Amino acid sequence: MGKLFISEHPLIQHKMSMLRNEETGSKEFREIVEEVAMLLSYEATRDLPLVDTKVKTPIAMADCKMIDAKLAIVPILRAGIGMTDGLLALMPTAKVGHIGLYRDPETLNPVEYYCKLPADVEERRVFLTDPMLATGGTATAAIGFLKEKGVKNITLLCVLAAPDGVKKVQTEHPDVDIYTAAYDTMLNDHGYIVPGLGDAGDRIFGTK
Ligand code: URA
Repeated sequence: MGKLFISEHPLIQHKMSMLRNEETGSKEFREIVEEVAMLLSYEATRDLPLVDTKVKTPIAMADCKMIDAKLAIVPILRAGIGMTDGLLALMPTAKVGHIGLYRDPETLNPVEYYCKLPADVEERRVFLTDPMLATGGTATAAIGFLKEKGVKNITLLCVLAAPDGVKKVQTEHPDVDIYTAAYDTMLNDHGYIVPGLGDAGDRIFGTK
């Protein structure tokens, strides 16, 4: 089963309190989501492979290491976009793809309405971003679509996760690790995380 990493870092916990506060406006909310995403990506990249290299310092040659991995960041539209710049801050050479899904009102199946991925995405380690892992329907579908495109190594990063979503991802995609800044224990009847932080997309983009 994939790992569930729930951050206990004081910086992240402090920032989560600010995100949860309904008084926090869009500008600040957006900035904090980005910061939380950056801090989470620091944790999620601990196992990146390294190669040895030699570097000439102003004093002498030094034995050093460089990351030896091709990376991609794939936000799920639209709220996942709010996390992208935070990840790019630590992984500036990563390529960025986008995936958009909606739920067919009749079949309730997720339908991909937009997908633009790096041409060599199947060779890349993909960091999929979706701030709210609530029911897990969108995230599991997005992971499924990425796998259909040949992606083998996927890590899911979210700001807030709930048990239903975690269980669904771990059951349907046991190879995918989940990194979250916080974990709440329930959903309400509308599928919102409780106490949560509201609608992440609306708060990031100021649409409500
Ligand atoms: N999506 C959100 O934006 N918020 C939730 O609480 C659940 C899903």
